[in-house]
Amino acid sequence: MANQDFLPINGTDHIEFYVGNAKQSALYYQYAFGFELFAYAGPETGVRDRASYVLKQNKITLVLTTSLQPDSEISEHVQKHGDGVKVLALWVDDATKSFQETILRGAEPAHEPKILKDEFGEVVVSSIKTYGETFHTFVERKNYKGPFLPGYKPRTSMFKTEPIGLKYVDHCVGNVELGKMNHWVEFYEKVMGFSLLVTFDDKDISTEYSALMSKVVSNGNGYIKFPINEPAQGKKKSQIEEYLDFYKGAGVQHIAIATDDIIHTVGELRRRGVEFLYVPETYYDDVMERVGSINESLEELKKLNILIDRDEEGYLLQIFTKPVQDRPTVFFEIIERNGARSFGKGNFKALFESIEREQALRGNL
Ligand code: FE2
Repeated sequence: MANQDFLPINGTDHIEFYVGNAKQSALYYQYAFGFELFAYAGPETGVRDRASYVLKQNKITLVLTTSLQPDSEISEHVQKHGDGVKVLALWVDDATKSFQETILRGAEPAHEPKILKDEFGEVVVSSIKTYGETFHTFVERKNYKGPFLPGYKPRTSMFKTEPIGLKYVDHCVGNVELGKMNHWVEFYEKVMGFSLLVTFDDKDISTEYSALMSKVVSNGNGYIKFPINEPAQGKKKSQIEEYLDFYKGAGVQHIAIATDDIIHTVGELRRRGVEFLYVPETYYDDVMERVGSINESLEELKKLNILIDRDEEGYLLQIFTKPVQDRPTVFFEIIERNGARSFGKGNFKALFESIEREQALRGNL
């Protein structure tokens, strides 16, 4: 039984952001990303200190939470970090055991297991701490039939949302402080039973100016993938340092969302005003030599500035938004996998040069 997974995870349950104005953020994700509002908690539902909007598109659930008071854990988080990810919640069959097993292996507790109940049944939740002030919440919902969690009431969008084919969370990336990457990789290995999938060093990920190092950890069934980045020495400030400076510490850098039709998804996102990193046209000059034949038209990919990479198993298409708040912190990746299970290593250089152009515009390079 030595190889038995002590922390079986069914998938990502939800991602909770703490934001300055959840009402407006909720509209942004409904309008621009095509999420649909389906649950809400706040003063109207008997919750006095906060408001939370719960949005869904296929298997992705986002929770946008804001504080109604200045002196709360949520307000302090927003004041320090700006809008950012507080919780990467994991869907498990046993939230009590998940808590016990990880605590036993050295996790720091955030919330002891507790049972939440309402007329739809019960949910068990527990939380542990990970990098920065981020939590992993274990959610056990096998005895629950409600819309989201007890305490939340059904609520629908005020207009007809138009989904854009966002399917599921592919991976969530954390930026950690210089010298801390191995510490957090070890945390995921020892405390959560994940294994190391890939390592990128500063030779893989460097430009003339800056560098970073990254290791990707994954859980037993491979549904959860967490790349962890740390800055590496370069001539100028790396994008990870810029993030750490503005987020005031470690935190979630980007959330990669899978689509089956990236041309449609990105076309819609652009039409609705979402901004993306720009890669120069010269990127496309020799890309076909590098990736070989693909099903999509290169012209269309070029028009939308979508990047292409290939590994032994297939190819992938990807693109990165600019930060989705004014601080240069959290952003999204849109990814379409055609067999490839890697992360777009062939695009790193072009991408980082693109990020550096943005950093320079912000005066942070
Ligand atoms: Fe990514």
